[in-house]
Amino acid sequence: MRLLNQIPKKVGTRPISVEASPFDDLASAYDAWFEGEGKLTFTIEVRAFQEVLSSLPKPWLEVGVGSGRFAQALGIEAGVDPSVKLLEMARRRGITVFLGRGEQELFDEKSFGTVFLIVTLCFVDSPPDVLKEAYRILVPGGKIVLGLVLRETPWGKLYEQKKKQGHRFYKYATFYRYDEVVKLLEQAGFLIEQVISTLFQKPGKVEGMELPQRGYSSSGGFTVIVAGKYASEGEVRQRDQGTEQS
Ligand SMILES: C[S@@+](CC[C@H](N)C(=O)[O-])C[C@H]1O[C@@H](n2cnc3c(N)ncnc32)[C@H](O)[C@@H]1O
Repeated sequence: MRLLNQIPKKVGTRPISVEASPFDDLASAYDAWFEGEGKLTFTIEVRAFQEVLSSLPKPWLEVGVGSGRFAQALGIEAGVDPSVKLLEMARRRGITVFLGRGEQELFDEKSFGTVFLIVTLCFVDSPPDVLKEAYRILVPGGKIVLGLVLRETPWGKLYEQKKKQGHRFYKYATFYRYDEVVKLLEQAGFLIEQVISTLFQKPGKVEGMELPQRGYSSSGGFTVIVAGKYASEGEVRQRDQGTEQS
């Protein structure tokens, strides 16, 4: 198995065109949330990811890295995003950044051990294409980690309502149910391994630190799903033969 110890040098095999992102105009407001009303929520969400980090193979990539807040807090080395403004912030936070969309072929296949999508699946144009591409760039045995606000949760219901009212961020989002995300992951070839729920305090009433719970709960406002890419029989045979010969 070819396990890379560093971010691949070759980052593109074809010219990438990226349309201006709606997040460009909202970048400062988006980033300010983490220091203001979202500070404790962010800390609670980071704590949930910490439950699974030690089981995730390196190198790590975040698709939809935004301003790099999660990437910095979780130790994710590299990120992709279509927003130039957000990427500039992520770069200042020490993240290696790539301009592009998760649907695009930006990296060689089997380049990463783990791909994160944190509050991003709901913003991409095509979740099936993003998941398919994540699968392609993961090594066999690699993991995808999703951080999600799901539609049936108290936070998802509120965001869905805000979207309908034309909220500046949420109008661009499509919130999915847990069962829809499970189906999308399985259709892309992933096998779900771990689910963590957190943020049981209601929106606007986050007053104390919370510890995450194992398993899915629709009472939690934030859900983390870890799913694995498993090698096909052909890939395992090829890999084993490669090891024997070397
Ligand atoms: C809500 S933000 C999340 C940013 C970051 N993960 C975080 O949690 O702070 C959603 C991000 O998805 C990015 N995005 C939108 N469409 C995308 C696509 N097709 N591929 C990758 N990222 C995309 C946006 O530019 C934005 O940075």
